Amino acid sequence: MKLIIASNNKGKIREYKQLLEPLGYEVVSQRESGIDVDIDENGETFEENAAIKARAIYGVSKTATLADDSGIVIDALGGQPGVHSARYGTPDLDDEGRTSLVLKNMQGVPDEKRTARYVAVIHFIDKSGKEISVRGECEGIIGHSPVGKNGFGYDPIFIYGDKTFAQHTEEFKNSVSHRANALKQLIEKLKQS
Ligand code: IMP
Repeated sequence: MKLIIASNNKGKIREYKQLLEPLGYEVVSQRESGIDVDIDENGETFEENAAIKARAIYGVSKTATLADDSGIVIDALGGQPGVHSARYGTPDLDDEGRTSLVLKNMQGVPDEKRTARYVAVIHFIDKSGKEISVRGECEGIIGHSPVGKNGFGYDPIFIYGDKTFAQHTEEFKNSVSHRANALKQLIEKLKQS
């Protein structure tokens, strides 16, 4: 069974391949599927954005499709960056710039109020059009300065246990992350259906 992943991110595709191919899916990226649709991710929640992406691709392909939407929710910032994680601040900022902006906006926030979580929502549509949505979360604390070289995005300031996600190995992160957590739930649901 062919399954289109609504992304061209190599890391994501590799992770989905490893976990979904054993269930009998032939995983292909959006580019490999040859589908080129312009998707406006204008939802206000992770659930809405993941559904928008999956439905846009399923609509033209009529092939099983999986889309995800993720980000970091920081309590002291009223839930920001949230669904705007990829474009927090001004458009010229890169990962490092966005991380610095978070730290600047959290100056003076004491440790006990620096709680945050990564969130990932996966929206799956099977070949017949049946939809499944799952949400995975991973709790952490925002540090005071960036530490570590692994991972991407906000990982250097996201402390999980005694280290940042950018200090943990990729293997460890992929076993406890928000995406891993959502994917485990999806796999359980697919096995039941
Ligand atoms: P998207 O789900 O690919 O749209 O990514 C949303 C944004 O959330 C990314 O660009 C990152 O800024 C942030 N994000 C999501 N997951 C992670 C993660 O595992 N580590 C670091 N940043 C993440």
